[in-house]
Amino acid sequence: MTVLDTRTVVHHAAPPPRMSRTRHYLMCAPLHFEVTYAINPWMDTANPVDAERARLQWEVLRNTYLSLGHRVDLIEPAPSQPDMVFAANGGLVVGGRAYGAKFRFPERAAEGAAYSSWLERSGIAVVTPAHTNEGEGDFLALGSMILAGTGFRTSLAAHIEAAEAVDRPVVSLELVDPRFYHLDVAIAVLDDGNGSAPAEIAYYPGAFSRHSQRTLRDLFPDAIICSEADALVLGLNAVSDGHHVVLPSAAVGLAEALTLRGYTPVPVDLSEYMKSGGSVKCCTMELHR
Ligand code: ARG
Repeated sequence: MTVLDTRTVVHHAAPPPRMSRTRHYLMCAPLHFEVTYAINPWMDTANPVDAERARLQWEVLRNTYLSLGHRVDLIEPAPSQPDMVFAANGGLVVGGRAYGAKFRFPERAAEGAAYSSWLERSGIAVVTPAHTNEGEGDFLALGSMILAGTGFRTSLAAHIEAAEAVDRPVVSLELVDPRFYHLDVAIAVLDDGNGSAPAEIAYYPGAFSRHSQRTLRDLFPDAIICSEADALVLGLNAVSDGHHVVLPSAAVGLAEALTLRGYTPVPVDLSEYMKSGGSVKCCTMELHR
Protein backbone atom coordinates (compact mmCIF):
# COMPACT_ATOMS: atom_id res chain seq x y z
CA MET A 1 0.00 0.00 0.00
CA THR A 2 1.33 3.44 -0.91
CA VAL A 3 0.02 6.53 0.89
CA LEU A 4 0.25 9.41 -1.57
CA ASP A 5 -1.32 12.00 0.69
CA THR A 6 -3.90 11.94 3.44
CA ARG A 7 -6.80 11.28 1.07
CA THR A 8 -5.35 9.07 -1.68
CA VAL A 9 -4.54 5.47 -0.84
CA VAL A 10 -3.42 3.13 -3.62
CA HIS A 11 -3.66 -0.58 -3.02
CA HIS A 12 -1.13 -2.66 -4.93
CA ALA A 13 -2.89 -5.98 -5.24
CA ALA A 14 -0.37 -8.81 -5.10
CA PRO A 15 -0.50 -10.87 -8.29
CA PRO A 16 -2.03 -14.35 -7.90
CA PRO A 17 0.52 -17.16 -7.51
CA ARG A 18 1.43 -18.28 -11.03
CA MET A 19 1.03 -21.98 -11.66
CA SER A 20 2.41 -23.69 -14.73
CA ARG A 21 0.49 -26.48 -16.44
CA THR A 22 2.27 -29.04 -18.58
CA ARG A 23 1.69 -28.32 -22.27
CA HIS A 24 1.78 -30.30 -25.49
CA TYR A 25 3.43 -28.53 -28.41
CA LEU A 26 4.07 -29.32 -32.04
CA MET A 27 7.13 -27.85 -33.78
CA CYS A 28 8.73 -28.17 -37.21
CA ALA A 29 12.53 -28.11 -37.56
CA PRO A 30 13.82 -25.24 -39.75
CA LEU A 31 15.56 -27.57 -42.20
CA HIS A 32 14.17 -25.68 -45.20
CA PHE A 33 13.55 -22.31 -43.57
CA GLU A 34 14.49 -19.32 -45.74
CA VAL A 35 12.99 -16.11 -47.09
CA THR A 36 12.37 -16.74 -50.78
CA TYR A 37 9.14 -14.72 -51.11
CA ALA A 38 7.64 -11.75 -49.28
CA ILE A 39 4.06 -12.04 -48.00
CA ASN A 40 4.31 -9.69 -45.03
CA PRO A 41 6.18 -6.41 -44.41
CA TRP A 42 8.91 -8.13 -42.37
CA MET A 43 10.04 -10.30 -45.27
CA ASP A 44 12.68 -9.05 -47.69
CA THR A 45 14.24 -11.54 -50.06
CA ALA A 46 17.38 -9.36 -50.05
CA ASN A 47 17.83 -10.08 -46.32
CA PRO A 48 18.67 -13.78 -46.25
CA VAL A 49 18.38 -16.14 -43.31
CA ASP A 50 21.55 -17.48 -41.69
CA ALA A 51 20.58 -21.16 -41.74
CA GLU A 52 22.99 -22.27 -39.03
CA ARG A 53 21.96 -19.50 -36.62
CA ALA A 54 18.31 -20.25 -37.35
CA ARG A 55 18.87 -23.92 -36.55
CA LEU A 56 20.60 -23.11 -33.25
CA GLN A 57 17.94 -20.58 -32.21
CA TRP A 58 15.19 -23.10 -32.91
CA GLU A 59 17.02 -25.81 -30.91
CA VAL A 60 17.24 -23.43 -27.95
CA LEU A 61 13.48 -22.81 -28.16
CA ARG A 62 12.71 -26.53 -28.29
CA ASN A 63 15.08 -27.26 -25.40
CA THR A 64 13.52 -24.44 -23.40
CA TYR A 65 10.12 -26.12 -23.64
CA LEU A 66 11.59 -29.50 -22.78
CA SER A 67 13.46 -28.13 -19.76
CA LEU A 68 10.21 -26.56 -18.53
CA GLY A 69 8.73 -30.06 -18.62
CA HIS A 70 6.55 -29.72 -21.70
CA ARG A 71 5.98 -32.28 -24.44
CA VAL A 72 7.24 -31.32 -27.89
CA ASP A 73 6.25 -33.37 -30.92
CA LEU A 74 7.84 -32.79 -34.31
CA ILE A 75 6.36 -32.75 -37.79
CA GLU A 76 8.51 -33.63 -40.81
CA PRO A 77 9.53 -30.42 -42.67
CA ALA A 78 8.58 -30.36 -46.37
CA PRO A 79 11.43 -29.27 -48.73
CA SER A 80 9.39 -26.79 -50.75
CA GLN A 81 7.76 -25.09 -47.73
CA PRO A 82 10.22 -22.59 -46.21
CA ASP A 83 7.59 -21.19 -43.78
CA MET A 84 6.53 -24.59 -42.43
CA VAL A 85 8.70 -23.90 -39.37
CA PHE A 86 5.84 -21.62 -38.23
CA ALA A 87 3.84 -24.48 -36.76
CA ALA A 88 1.25 -22.20 -35.15
CA ASN A 89 -0.26 -21.65 -38.57
CA GLY A 90 -0.93 -25.35 -39.20
CA GLY A 91 -4.32 -25.48 -37.48
CA LEU A 92 -6.26 -24.91 -34.27
CA VAL A 93 -6.47 -27.75 -31.77
CA VAL A 94 -8.76 -27.46 -28.74
CA GLY A 95 -10.18 -30.20 -26.57
CA GLY A 96 -9.11 -33.00 -28.89
CA ARG A 97 -10.77 -31.40 -31.94
CA ALA A 98 -8.98 -29.61 -34.73
CA TYR A 99 -9.86 -27.04 -37.36
CA GLY A 100 -7.50 -27.28 -40.32
CA ALA A 101 -5.65 -24.35 -41.91
CA LYS A 102 -6.32 -22.91 -45.37
CA PHE A 103 -3.54 -20.46 -46.17
CA ARG A 104 -4.13 -17.07 -47.73
CA PHE A 105 -1.11 -17.22 -50.06
CA PRO A 106 -0.41 -20.00 -52.57
CA GLU A 107 3.22 -20.16 -51.39
CA ARG A 108 2.07 -21.73 -48.12
CA ALA A 109 -0.98 -23.65 -49.36
CA ALA A 110 0.60 -27.11 -49.16
CA GLU A 111 1.30 -26.72 -45.44
CA GLY A 112 -2.41 -27.07 -44.62
CA ALA A 113 -2.63 -30.69 -45.72
CA ALA A 114 0.72 -31.58 -44.14
CA TYR A 115 -0.36 -30.36 -40.70
CA SER A 116 -3.88 -31.83 -40.99
CA SER A 117 -2.45 -35.19 -41.90
CA TRP A 118 -0.04 -35.10 -38.92
CA LEU A 119 -2.96 -34.29 -36.60
CA GLU A 120 -5.12 -37.06 -38.07
CA ARG A 121 -2.26 -39.53 -37.67
CA SER A 122 -2.06 -38.51 -34.01
CA GLY A 123 -5.69 -39.41 -33.54
CA ILE A 124 -7.18 -35.91 -33.68
CA ALA A 125 -10.17 -35.47 -35.98
CA VAL A 126 -9.66 -32.46 -38.25
CA VAL A 127 -12.48 -30.38 -39.74
CA THR A 128 -11.39 -29.43 -43.28
CA PRO A 129 -11.84 -25.68 -43.67
CA ALA A 130 -13.88 -24.12 -46.47
CA HIS A 131 -12.64 -20.65 -45.50
CA THR A 132 -9.21 -19.00 -45.36
CA ASN A 133 -7.56 -19.22 -41.96
CA GLU A 134 -4.04 -19.55 -40.60
CA GLY A 135 -4.61 -21.64 -37.50
CA GLU A 136 -3.19 -20.44 -34.20
CA GLY A 137 -1.64 -17.49 -35.98
CA ASP A 138 -5.12 -15.95 -35.83
CA PHE A 139 -6.92 -18.14 -33.27
CA LEU A 140 -5.93 -17.91 -29.61
CA ALA A 141 -7.63 -20.28 -27.16
CA LEU A 142 -8.40 -18.69 -23.83
CA GLY A 143 -10.73 -19.98 -21.16
CA SER A 144 -13.85 -21.29 -22.82
CA MET A 145 -13.47 -19.01 -25.83
CA ILE A 146 -11.34 -18.37 -28.88
CA LEU A 147 -10.00 -14.91 -29.73
CA ALA A 148 -9.93 -14.69 -33.51
CA GLY A 149 -8.12 -12.22 -35.74
CA THR A 150 -9.17 -11.03 -39.18
CA GLY A 151 -8.06 -8.32 -41.59
CA PHE A 152 -4.98 -9.76 -43.28
CA ARG A 153 -4.99 -13.55 -43.35
CA THR A 154 -7.99 -15.23 -41.69
CA SER A 155 -11.48 -14.46 -43.04
CA LEU A 156 -14.45 -13.62 -40.85
CA ALA A 157 -16.31 -16.61 -42.31
CA ALA A 158 -13.57 -18.83 -40.91
CA HIS A 159 -14.29 -17.52 -37.42
CA ILE A 160 -17.79 -18.98 -37.58
CA GLU A 161 -16.47 -22.19 -39.09
CA ALA A 162 -13.84 -22.50 -36.32
CA ALA A 163 -16.46 -21.96 -33.60
CA GLU A 164 -18.44 -24.90 -35.02
CA ALA A 165 -15.35 -27.04 -35.55
CA VAL A 166 -13.99 -26.84 -32.00
CA ASP A 167 -17.32 -26.04 -30.34
CA ARG A 168 -16.18 -22.87 -28.60
CA PRO A 169 -17.51 -19.31 -28.78
CA VAL A 170 -15.35 -17.02 -30.90
CA VAL A 171 -14.65 -13.31 -30.34
CA SER A 172 -13.70 -11.62 -33.63
CA LEU A 173 -11.02 -8.92 -33.56
CA GLU A 174 -10.00 -6.76 -36.49
CA LEU A 175 -6.30 -6.19 -37.22
CA VAL A 176 -5.52 -2.95 -39.07
CA ASP A 177 -1.71 -2.59 -39.10
CA PRO A 178 0.03 -4.77 -41.72
CA ARG A 179 3.08 -5.19 -39.49
CA PHE A 180 0.80 -7.09 -37.12
CA TYR A 181 -0.80 -9.30 -39.73
CA HIS A 182 -1.59 -12.21 -37.39
CA LEU A 183 -3.33 -12.06 -34.01
CA ASP A 184 -0.41 -13.84 -32.34
CA VAL A 185 1.89 -10.88 -32.98
CA ALA A 186 -0.66 -8.47 -31.42
CA ILE A 187 -1.85 -10.45 -28.37
CA ALA A 188 -0.03 -12.79 -25.99
CA VAL A 189 -2.11 -15.15 -23.87
CA LEU A 190 -0.41 -15.16 -20.47
CA ASP A 191 -2.91 -17.18 -18.51
CA ASP A 192 -5.51 -19.16 -20.40
CA GLY A 193 -7.89 -19.06 -17.43
CA ASN A 194 -8.15 -22.85 -17.28
CA GLY A 195 -6.28 -23.11 -13.96
CA SER A 196 -6.91 -21.26 -10.72
CA ALA A 197 -6.08 -17.74 -11.97
CA PRO A 198 -8.32 -15.68 -14.27
CA ALA A 199 -7.53 -15.37 -17.98
CA GLU A 200 -4.92 -12.72 -18.68
CA ILE A 201 -3.46 -11.26 -21.86
CA ALA A 202 -0.99 -8.63 -23.04
CA TYR A 203 -1.71 -6.72 -26.25
CA TYR A 204 -0.68 -3.83 -28.44
CA PRO A 205 -3.78 -1.64 -28.95
CA GLY A 206 -2.46 0.03 -32.14
CA ALA A 207 -2.72 -3.27 -34.01
CA PHE A 208 -6.53 -3.19 -33.73
CA SER A 209 -9.45 -1.21 -35.11
CA ARG A 210 -11.10 1.18 -32.66
CA HIS A 211 -14.01 -1.16 -32.19
CA SER A 212 -11.76 -4.12 -31.44
CA GLN A 213 -9.71 -2.01 -29.02
CA ARG A 214 -12.94 -1.34 -27.20
CA THR A 215 -13.81 -5.06 -27.17
CA LEU A 216 -10.40 -5.85 -25.67
CA ARG A 217 -10.75 -3.13 -23.03
CA ASP A 218 -14.17 -4.45 -22.04
CA LEU A 219 -13.10 -8.10 -21.91
CA PHE A 220 -9.67 -7.57 -20.34
CA PRO A 221 -9.65 -4.37 -18.27
CA ASP A 222 -6.51 -5.53 -16.44
CA ALA A 223 -4.53 -6.58 -19.50
CA ILE A 224 -0.88 -5.64 -19.83
CA ILE A 225 -0.63 -2.94 -22.49
CA CYS A 226 2.42 -3.60 -24.63
CA SER A 227 4.40 -0.67 -26.05
CA GLU A 228 4.86 -0.27 -29.79
CA ALA A 229 8.61 -0.79 -29.28
CA ASP A 230 8.08 -4.18 -27.63
CA ALA A 231 5.45 -5.14 -30.20
CA LEU A 232 7.90 -4.28 -33.00
CA VAL A 233 10.41 -6.83 -31.73
CA LEU A 234 7.52 -9.32 -31.81
CA GLY A 235 7.44 -9.36 -28.01
CA LEU A 236 3.81 -10.48 -28.00
CA ASN A 237 4.65 -13.56 -30.03
CA ALA A 238 5.13 -15.39 -26.74
CA VAL A 239 4.20 -18.77 -25.28
CA SER A 240 3.07 -19.06 -21.66
CA ASP A 241 2.49 -22.14 -19.53
CA GLY A 242 0.72 -20.03 -16.92
CA HIS A 243 3.94 -19.23 -15.06
CA HIS A 244 6.87 -19.15 -17.50
CA VAL A 245 6.48 -16.86 -20.47
CA VAL A 246 8.88 -17.69 -23.29
CA LEU A 247 9.31 -14.48 -25.29
CA PRO A 248 11.74 -12.74 -27.66
CA SER A 249 14.70 -11.44 -25.66
CA ALA A 250 14.51 -7.96 -27.20
CA ALA A 251 11.14 -7.30 -25.53
CA VAL A 252 12.66 -6.00 -22.28
CA GLY A 253 9.81 -3.70 -21.26
CA LEU A 254 7.27 -6.46 -21.62
CA ALA A 255 9.49 -8.85 -19.64
CA GLU A 256 9.59 -6.33 -16.78
CA ALA A 257 5.82 -5.95 -16.82
CA LEU A 258 5.46 -9.75 -16.71
CA THR A 259 7.73 -9.98 -13.68
CA LEU A 260 5.61 -7.39 -11.85
CA ARG A 261 2.57 -9.58 -12.50
CA GLY A 262 4.25 -12.61 -10.99
CA TYR A 263 5.26 -14.38 -14.22
CA THR A 264 8.77 -15.61 -14.94
CA PRO A 265 9.92 -14.34 -18.34
CA VAL A 266 12.11 -16.78 -20.26
CA PRO A 267 13.82 -14.73 -23.00
CA VAL A 268 15.03 -16.45 -26.16
CA ASP A 269 16.71 -14.97 -29.24
CA LEU A 270 14.81 -15.81 -32.43
CA SER A 271 16.22 -12.96 -34.51
CA GLU A 272 16.56 -15.09 -37.67
CA TYR A 273 12.81 -15.72 -37.61
CA MET A 274 11.99 -12.02 -37.40
CA LYS A 275 13.30 -11.83 -40.97
CA SER A 276 10.17 -13.80 -41.87
CA GLY A 277 7.85 -11.96 -39.47
CA GLY A 278 7.82 -14.70 -36.86
CA SER A 279 9.08 -15.58 -33.40
CA VAL A 280 8.36 -17.83 -30.42
CA LYS A 281 4.61 -18.43 -30.74
CA CYS A 282 4.75 -18.69 -34.53
CA CYS A 283 7.16 -21.62 -34.17
CA THR A 284 4.82 -23.37 -31.75
CA MET A 285 1.42 -25.00 -32.17
CA GLU A 286 -0.18 -25.79 -28.83
CA LEU A 287 -2.43 -28.80 -28.76
CA HIS A 288 -4.87 -27.38 -26.23
CA ARG A 289 -6.59 -29.91 -24.00
N1 ARG B 1 6.50 -15.77 -43.11
C1 ARG B 1 5.34 -16.27 -42.44
C2 ARG B 1 4.10 -15.68 -43.08
O1 ARG B 1 4.12 -14.54 -43.46
C3 ARG B 1 5.39 -15.96 -40.99
C4 ARG B 1 4.29 -16.64 -40.19
C5 ARG B 1 4.31 -16.27 -38.77
N2 ARG B 1 3.40 -17.06 -38.02
C6 ARG B 1 2.60 -16.60 -37.05
N3 ARG B 1 1.94 -17.48 -36.35
N4 ARG B 1 2.42 -15.32 -36.85
O2 ARG B 1 3.10 -16.33 -43.24
